[in-house]
Amino acid sequence: MSKFRTVVVGAGFIGPVHVEGLRRAGVTVAGVVDITPERSLAASTNLGLPSDIRTFEDAINDPTIDCVHLTTPNRFHFEQAAAALKAGKHVVCEKPLAMNSTESAELVRLAAESGRAAAVNYNLRFYPLAHEAAARVRSGSIGNLVHVVGSYVQDWLLRVTDFNWRVVAEDGGELRAVADIGTHWLDLIQFITGKHITSVCADLRTVYPTRQRPVGEVETFSGGGGAQAATEPINITTEDCGSVMLRFEDGANGCLWVSQTTAGKKNCLRYELAGSDQSLAWNSESPNVLEIGNRDKANESLLRDPSLMDSSAAAISNYPGGHNEGFPDTFKQLFKTFYGYIAKGDLTAPAPFPTFADGHREILLCEAILKSHRQRSWVDVDGTSAS
Ligand SMILES: NC(=O)c1ccc[n+]([C@@H]2O[C@H](COP(=O)([O-])OP(=O)(O)OC[C@H]3O[C@@H](n4cnc5c(N)ncnc54)[C@H](O)[C@@H]3O)[C@@H](O)[C@H]2O)c1
Repeated sequence: MSKFRTVVVGAGFIGPVHVEGLRRAGVTVAGVVDITPERSLAASTNLGLPSDIRTFEDAINDPTIDCVHLTTPNRFHFEQAAAALKAGKHVVCEKPLAMNSTESAELVRLAAESGRAAAVNYNLRFYPLAHEAAARVRSGSIGNLVHVVGSYVQDWLLRVTDFNWRVVAEDGGELRAVADIGTHWLDLIQFITGKHITSVCADLRTVYPTRQRPVGEVETFSGGGGAQAATEPINITTEDCGSVMLRFEDGANGCLWVSQTTAGKKNCLRYELAGSDQSLAWNSESPNVLEIGNRDKANESLLRDPSLMDSSAAAISNYPGGHNEGFPDTFKQLFKTFYGYIAKGDLTAPAPFPTFADGHREILLCEAILKSHRQRSWVDVDGTSAS
């Protein structure tokens, strides 16, 4: 892996998580860049990285760089991913892939034209028990998919004074809670079930139509413990919470609840997936346990253990059972999979990671969800109204 030289673009909350994951995957991190050369230097010094690459342009114009990871705010993803692909770099882009489906469709086209590998960082698929659940659905052990319910809830935007660029539509996109965290759930469930969501019916709500924005920048997940800063009012159009009813391509149905205003829930993704023979349930705050529900015998609880799991799940699990693997490990495993795929040399082979096509489909889903909410009706994911 060390033959690959990668630059991480964006050194806020998740950029350093990428640096750590890349290092643990054995990839050479050739630099980290931020919005100014000064901030790039500070970040590379802080992370113990080389500092000769100071800008995004330095990174994509450097022929020794193989890949860029885009960990910038959402509104930069399209222009940076397009420029990196045109410069011949492989790309790992944070979610959401772009601000709208026109942009994401163009990125799918550019990725195909470039012949480079292009991933969207839906990292939650790379919890080993997500691969285990997918293998169980594939093998038929749960029977036919009947329905799926679940949620992704947080509390970091609970108060009217909580603020981040994500709450502003121009910076994060018109959808917020659904696009920021709901799409992780939607990607995970479609990955596990192997089924696309075809229709949605959404009811969204902005709890605070006006928030108090601190004068100055606020880091993601910086918490509320600091001194009270001066604030100014700002109108908010993006949703804090909402529910989305779902229909899958095979007739299964379900429901997702998303909230960034649930006190006490930090990053809590849950699902309950019901098959005609068994159910599977999982909670990201206890990610090493998969609950298996039975009708005619006692329920089971699978504690993550490579020796007890499907080979696809064992392959992305590096520690023996009982030693917890968590959020940072999902980045390492996605990156090992992504660079391992490139190393094999056949970029026409099916990609074992979330692709730009997956990222585009998530944006089509988001657009259908927003349209459904505004129309107060069911909407098909391709944009047409469902019966
Ligand atoms: N996969 C996940 O679990 C996960 C988690 C958090 C965030 N994210 C995604 O990662 C992205 C970044 O989120 P974050 O929470 O780290 O945000 P952040 O605000 O904490 O960090 C963004 C960084 O990008 C820098 N930046 C802004 N414009 C830039 C530019 N043009 N060029 C280079 N750097 C620039 C900022 O200065 C900042 O340091 C978002 O798209 C978000 O959705 C994904």
